[in-house]
Amino acid sequence: MGLGLKLTVVSLASVLAALGVYFYRNKKKEILIIPWRWEEVGKLTRLNLYPLKSGHRIELNQAEATEFGLRQTKEDEAVFQLRDRCLVVYSESDNEFRTARTYPKMVLIDVSVHDDQYLAVDAPTMRTLYVKIPESDDKSKTLVRLHKGEEITAIDCGDEAASWFSRYILEKDVGLRLGFHDASTRRDITKTHKTILDYYVNLTNYSTGLYSDLTAVLLLSQASIRDLNQRIGGSSVSVDNFRPNVVVDGAQLEAYAEDNWEWIKIGDVVLRNVKECTRCIMTTVNPENASRSSDREPLKTLEKYRMSNGPSSLPTMGINCEVRKSGLIKVGDPVYISKAE
Ligand SMILES: *[C@@H]1O[C@H](CO)[C@@H](O)[C@H](O)[C@H]1NC(C)=O
Ligand SMILES: *[C@@H]1O[C@H](CO)[C@@H](O)[C@H](O)[C@H]1NC(C)=O
Ligand SMILES: *[C@@H]1O[C@H](CO)[C@@H](O)[C@H](O)[C@H]1NC(C)=O
Repeated sequence: MGLGLKLTVVSLASVLAALGVYFYRNKKKEILIIPWRWEEVGKLTRLNLYPLKSGHRIELNQAEATEFGLRQTKEDEAVFQLRDRCLVVYSESDNEFRTARTYPKMVLIDVSVHDDQYLAVDAPTMRTLYVKIPESDDKSKTLVRLHKGEEITAIDCGDEAASWFSRYILEKDVGLRLGFHDASTRRDITKTHKTILDYYVNLTNYSTGLYSDLTAVLLLSQASIRDLNQRIGGSSVSVDNFRPNVVVDGAQLEAYAEDNWEWIKIGDVVLRNVKECTRCIMTTVNPENASRSSDREPLKTLEKYRMSNGPSSLPTMGINCEVRKSGLIKVGDPVYISKAE
């Protein structure tokens, strides 16, 4: 290396250090900018994975944060690792997705890994359904429509799963089907989510999860939940009503501090806040018994002081993040943040 080049490398490094950023190459060899300086704000207190969109959570002690969101680790599930929102229920007649917004009892559906070939699906009053872990072949490939007409690829899980979900959710023999995402393709939200992309300028295709409403990870602080509960008074809403993947808490943490975090670092993982999370009627469904709150809480209180200025006219709670750098995260890990330079 010539002296001139060495000097260039040294001065480039000092310029970047002064800017407070460094560059990181991800698996796809894209060069990404990551901040340099971090400030500890609390600890990771909960890690939740929702294998089925609208289904019940799996609480984890550790998870792999991938570019599509959380995934079980080989320590937890040696034979097959479930990913967050890798399953979706959809209508047989028009391929439109179905959620607990319309069918609250969906929040009680549990999915787990049975063995190297089958997933087990359970719900109250139902016998266990064993779903063969789908392999991609063109016969069973379809497109499921989510919000704003966005079509997402799915592998259909077969007739037995279809009748089990129709029975439990509709109390009919047919009508619904189950779709699986193998994380081999990324969503394209450029046409369907134009208004949203125009407003949230840091949101891109790269921010998306599998069948999540939009992004790979939803982060929420326990401090925000405490403040909300004080405002509601009486009833106590759980953080699980908001279905976050990552919950952060800390003695010094102020309520809604996460709104202003731009970058979040947990272990080796770097998340980036790309959007406030707008909240709907789903938050009024009790995640443990599927009953809808009679007074529309917590949405009613949120509407009084947390309305978004964005295109949705909904209140916000928590932040939608993309995974900028993947890796392992564990409950108890310190959480660091970096604000925009
Ligand atoms: C989003 O993905 C589509 C298809 O993969 C691609 O054509 C488009 O350029 C991407 N847009 C952005 C902003 O990444
Ligand atoms: C988008 O990212 C830029 C660069 O990191 C940052 O300065 C800006 O505050 C972000 N904008 C929003 C709305 O988050
Ligand atoms: C569900 O749980 C909530 C909170 O514990 C309780 O208020 C409600 O009555 C329960 N609903 C049913 C149907 O058990």
